[in-house]
Amino acid sequence: MEVRILDKVIAAIPASDGAGVSLLRSLGQGPMTRLDPFLMLDCFSSEDAGDYIKGFPAHPHRGFETVTYMLDGHMRHQDHLGNVGELKSGGAQWMTAGRGIIHSEMPQQESGRMRGFQLWINLPAREKMKPAGYRDIQAGSIPKVDLPGGGTAKVVAGTVTFDSVATNGPVDCVTTRPLFLDVVLPDGGLFTQSLPSGHNAFLYPYEGTVMIGNSLLGAHQAGILSAGDQVTVRSVGGAAKFLLLAAQPLGEPVVQHGPFVMNSREEIEQAIRDYQNGTLTAPW
Ligand code: CO
Repeated sequence: MEVRILDKVIAAIPASDGAGVSLLRSLGQGPMTRLDPFLMLDCFSSEDAGDYIKGFPAHPHRGFETVTYMLDGHMRHQDHLGNVGELKSGGAQWMTAGRGIIHSEMPQQESGRMRGFQLWINLPAREKMKPAGYRDIQAGSIPKVDLPGGGTAKVVAGTVTFDSVATNGPVDCVTTRPLFLDVVLPDGGLFTQSLPSGHNAFLYPYEGTVMIGNSLLGAHQAGILSAGDQVTVRSVGGAAKFLLLAAQPLGEPVVQHGPFVMNSREEIEQAIRDYQNGTLTAPW
């Protein structure tokens, strides 16, 4: 059993996306801050409607998956396939852009707290042009596991096992076998999770500070983990809340142009042409 330790820290920086939504970006600040197959992690968090009210009007994606996980607030997703999803506190949406999707995510509140995440996960080359897909995951279908030492782990994707009882998240059939956990620990709480040794993994505390091995990781920093079979996380100095994400790396070239992520420059140019011609989302 090899224990994973903190290998590298990427502090989140203020950024803006959509029509001017203020957010914090950790992974995805540039090509050197990805963690294969994770391309980007944005955290939006504000009680000031001015930071989020303009939302994310209609825009395209091709070549990867976007996962939106809401902690607080209400946004409405709409896409060219006719899907309408209400993103509410504790819920998620898992969207496969594949060949192409055009969607919007707009706030359904004019005041109060809006807080959540958007994660981009790459698709393998052979799946980049598959048909777009969309899963609306309401809070009630995300299992919450009570941890032995207090605290909870919500399982959006992957599996948490305690006392030989396995709890599976609602998301499966993703080639990179992602683990997506939202863990809440009381002060001094402890959480241990086994991770496939070949998978890349990172933590993102969004409240409080955690300790991994002998290293501290504060809020709004992505902590990339070393190789190994498991990780143990302890909250220090108060309660802590964090995401734990892991997945199988693809080991393929990544060429990104805004909302298009492909394997070559030629494929990016094709995506731009398809979008300009109105055929980004056209069936074969
Ligand atoms: Co989008």
